[in-house]
Amino acid sequence: MSSLARTPAGTLRKTAVGQTIRLQGWVNRRRDHGELVFIDLRDRSGIAQVVFDARFVPAAELLERAKELRNEFVLDVTGTVVEREGSSVNRELPTGEIEVHATALSILNRADTPPFPIEDGIKASEDLRLTYRYLDLRRPEMTKKFMTRSAVTMAIRELMHAEGFLDVETPILTKSTPEGARDFLVPSRVHEGEFYALPQSPQLFKQLLMVSGMERYYQIARCFRDEDLRADRQPEFTQVDIEMSFPTEEAVFALVEKIFTKVFPALGIACTAPFKRMTYDEAMERYGIDRPDTRFGLELGDFAALEENLSSKVERVKGLCVPGGGSFSRKRLDDLEKGARAAGVEWFFWVKTAAGGSWNSNSKKIFSDASVEKLRAAFGAGDGDLVLLAAGKAKSVFDFLGTLRVQIAREEKLVPEGRYEFLWVTGFPLLEWHEEDARWYAMHHPFTSPREEDLPYLESEPGRVKARAYDVVLNGMELGGGSIRIHRPDVQSRVFSALGISPEEARAKFGFLLDAFRFGAPPHGGIALGLDRILMILTGSSSIRDVIAFPKTASGADLMTQCPNPVSPEQLAELHIALAKPPKT
Ligand code: AMO
Repeated sequence: MSSLARTPAGTLRKTAVGQTIRLQGWVNRRRDHGELVFIDLRDRSGIAQVVFDARFVPAAELLERAKELRNEFVLDVTGTVVEREGSSVNRELPTGEIEVHATALSILNRADTPPFPIEDGIKASEDLRLTYRYLDLRRPEMTKKFMTRSAVTMAIRELMHAEGFLDVETPILTKSTPEGARDFLVPSRVHEGEFYALPQSPQLFKQLLMVSGMERYYQIARCFRDEDLRADRQPEFTQVDIEMSFPTEEAVFALVEKIFTKVFPALGIACTAPFKRMTYDEAMERYGIDRPDTRFGLELGDFAALEENLSSKVERVKGLCVPGGGSFSRKRLDDLEKGARAAGVEWFFWVKTAAGGSWNSNSKKIFSDASVEKLRAAFGAGDGDLVLLAAGKAKSVFDFLGTLRVQIAREEKLVPEGRYEFLWVTGFPLLEWHEEDARWYAMHHPFTSPREEDLPYLESEPGRVKARAYDVVLNGMELGGGSIRIHRPDVQSRVFSALGISPEEARAKFGFLLDAFRFGAPPHGGIALGLDRILMILTGSSSIRDVIAFPKTASGADLMTQCPNPVSPEQLAELHIALAKPPKT
């Protein structure tokens, strides 16, 4: 075997003409013209054309071997780099000005015919791609995403190191962490009937590291949450997790802006600091959501005037105007109405405003010429426009309209491509009321600090207390969230009590943290950035699965390894587990 070093195929250029080089990689394509066999050889760096030419090969046997080659065979080729002439130059390929005239070939491995072509833009189903994920990742567009991912984590590590942050690993087998999702549990063999939980985030550990005096911590940390999966959610995902002692909100913002202005422009996405800021209240009123996509209008407006016409008392009436929405079909409007009902909105109205003051609506009883005039003024609706209104409980009105706004913007192509609007959302409420079990929940997590000036209302008006919490949002996607934490034991007990967590329960769940806080906890705070989501944007991927090497399907399964899967009765017995129902086979 040749002792020549390997050259990455995709890096070959005219400057290499005349050199003897060695390539190792896969057969991307073979064309057999009898006396001449062309191989497109692919490796991670790209593709180069290798030629087996009867006139130049050192032995006829080499040409014969080249004829045996099939797609995805693994090769080791030595040859001479030759400039291509005239029409044989391939402008589509970065290596298209040269080819390699083979002088030696060894076949390192053969391959079955792959279940889908190893090329970009294939039509294979995602399930098939996930079943053969290793082949899917061999496709250049996928390989590239992981090269980007590696470069981005490297750039973040460099920056965090330069900023004085220590990379500290925290446990995976741990105790439940309070991020609000369901835990993945791991049964203990040694401690019968007891369980570890996989961390929903390193939250409590990073706070403890501040008590340890680490001052600045970060970790590219794996998190586990058993929740409903979506295009931007996986049960197992990665955070750039950050915590610092003696912080201010401004210090956290500046650091995150430094990270983003390093990684986004490097991949051609404009990102300039400081980012815009918006309070939670403003985000909700204008966009119906706490992670607004500010790239397009369709902003929400109020129409309290309608309240008096409704037979039932409602908390809020809000709506939005769709310019040109007068052309929406009856079917489309009926579908919107169904959506409103499914979202728990009490009343849903549409009003089309037409020329000469005329109008049409799904409720001619509720509206009159006079009220439609008011509606036009309130929403700036003109002839040929459509106003959609929702009334009912504030939460369902906001949820419905927040989603509707984005849906309509997508359908009507109002979302400008290639625009990136970074935004800090601040001033979140500390607590949110859940109707189902009639109690307050922490909007972020129970260690988030209330604003000092709101502390007096913690018991009397919990809903009024704002948190020192913040989210960073890009184009309607939450990229990260964090807060300044509570470090005073008295404030922590008051927040627990507002959350209905008794001192006994607090001790059982977080006793170790409360103990730590008795030994000189510095003020601290931080943030966690969703690395997978950042990469979705950086690589232009519409699914989070495209930036995770071995992701789960929407139902949480890994199609390649076929897990989750039943385990043997012996394993269960060892773990002291008896199944209530036998597993499906
Ligand atoms: P939070 O729960 O807001 O905060 O998570 C931080 C960021 O992690 C990303 N993220 C996810 N990405 C993919 N799949 C998921 N299932 C998923 N869940 C969350 C989001 C989100 O903004 N411990 C706190 C941080 C802190 O307070 O410092 C935390 O985990 O981009």
